Amino acid sequence: MSSGPKRQSDFLLWKLPRGFFYVAILMTCVALIPPALIIRARSTPRDSRRIHLIQNMDNQPKYKGQQQNILFKDGRSMRQPVPGTVARDQMIGDTHFHLGTVDGAYSTTYPSQVSLDMDLLERGRERYMIYCLPCHGVTGEGDGLVHQRAMKLLNLSADINNGTTWVQPKNLHEEAIIDQPVGQIFYTISNGKNNMAGYASQIDVADRWAIVAYVQALQVAGDASDESVSGADSLPERRIKMEDDLEGADGGNDGEGGQS
Ligand code: HEC
Repeated sequence: MSSGPKRQSDFLLWKLPRGFFYVAILMTCVALIPPALIIRARSTPRDSRRIHLIQNMDNQPKYKGQQQNILFKDGRSMRQPVPGTVARDQMIGDTHFHLGTVDGAYSTTYPSQVSLDMDLLERGRERYMIYCLPCHGVTGEGDGLVHQRAMKLLNLSADINNGTTWVQPKNLHEEAIIDQPVGQIFYTISNGKNNMAGYASQIDVADRWAIVAYVQALQVAGDASDESVSGADSLPERRIKMEDDLEGADGGNDGEGGQS
């Protein structure tokens, strides 16, 4: 009997009690439940937040815009600013200095904070060179490098004819600009005009007034008579050219873009 070939039941494993297999299968099945649940939770979309054991600072107690807040009588979590609150850029107590207006009209005078002297003009010249010259040009005739470059590009692409247009920076020596009250120049620098962007965010209030003063100085200089300039006759073509331009082409600027 024991000399025959080994039967299956001779292997050690098969000799274990039956119950052992049932328990092992059961335990394997039970052990698969948690991973199955995790996979399911990760793969099915749901509205509730997922379980987030280590919070760090991801979730903090706070009220959001339209949430209810029983702390206040009206039940809103969004509160009105305290009456009389003035945001920093709403500071309009002194409109003359900050907006260039007096009683709702452009001021014709400089505000008291600004003292018209050489220092102011120097500062204005420096700021003008940085912020205005690229478009309006050294003398304010609207012929800055940006303009020259734009004209070059326009000419280059003339045959493409893709509808590109260019508005020339204003010639600041135009009569309409010379006649503007100082407050209006200040306003233009602050808020821009038509195609020109405003510079309030880049140039602070006092510097904007300094630029206004320098623009006026440019205008005066551009309009100066020969007698007011010592040795004017020694100056070559420049003046003669300007005079020709002014006579010939009413200021050399198309004046498009509407005055408003
Ligand atoms: C990026 C180019 C550009 C820069 C920089 C620029 N301007 Fe202008 N400016 C223009 C253009 C373009 C116009 C004409 C706008 C229009 O009428 O569409 C203009 C118009 C003006 C006018 C006339 C506004 C009016 O009432 O018609 C004044 C004044 C002026 N600029 C002053 C300045 C001063 C001062 C600076 C520097 C702080 C400056 N600009 C910087 C492009 C520029």
